[in-house]
Amino acid sequence: MIRLRGVKKCFRDGAREVPVLRGVDLDVAPGELVAIVGPSGSGKSTLLHVAGALDRDFEGEAVVAGTSLAGLGEAARAELRNRAIGFVFQAFNLLPTLSALENVMLPGVLRRAGPGGGIGEVRARARDALQRVGLGDRGGAPPARLSGGERQRVALARALLSRPAVLLADEPTGNLDASSGADVIRLFVELARDGVSVLVVTHEERVSDAATRVLHLLDGRLA
Ligand SMILES: Nc1ncnc2c1ncn2[C@@H]1O[C@H](COP(=O)(O)OP(=O)(O)OP(=O)(O)O)[C@@H](O)[C@H]1O
Ligand SMILES: [Mg+2]
Repeated sequence: MIRLRGVKKCFRDGAREVPVLRGVDLDVAPGELVAIVGPSGSGKSTLLHVAGALDRDFEGEAVVAGTSLAGLGEAARAELRNRAIGFVFQAFNLLPTLSALENVMLPGVLRRAGPGGGIGEVRARARDALQRVGLGDRGGAPPARLSGGERQRVALARALLSRPAVLLADEPTGNLDASSGADVIRLFVELARDGVSVLVVTHEERVSDAATRVLHLLDGRLA
């Protein structure tokens, strides 16, 4: 689950402190699919970065998958992300020199530094995740040979690899046509039904229509 209380975040612009989040309260329970909408620049990605344990420089309380983020060190945040959080970035963040399948496998391969299954099992789960997003036959392609929508779905498959308790997605259907967009939305609904806490930033009505709740980010607060 996700629990935010009074989360505040400023960016420094020269000598000026620009407030972006001004006291955000948010709960996303297991089984919920919550959509966040708001104008460009309102702080939606910033908020996801806080909830995804990617940003440590914020005020307020944040508890994600049972772990309080305040004062958590780099290694502990990385471990939490690896274990419990799937993140689909607005810009995908795929590695260009790896194939689609290798990109999906990457978090699992990195995790083998600790305990976990062998590389064969990671590959099998990555194939499975690609299948789930409708790209079972494109695993060998590098990102450069995939369309924007296909890249977006590879990023989603990668986020699903570790079967995270929390899934955070930033405009996950922004580049998708009607039919692959509908597939991704169906997948989110399914994941929520399986007990995942799903938090999605979106401009699209077809996503917010599928959500259990829609929240608006305006003037640094959620309503
Ligand atoms: N690293 C940064 N340094 C300084 N300012 C930043 C930084 N990241 C974001 N901002 C500013 O914070 C504000 C919120 O940015 P954010 O990316 O969270 O918006 P957003 O709601 O996700 O917008 P969009 O819908 O366009 O993706 C913007 O005004 C942006 O310019
Ligand atoms: Mg954004």
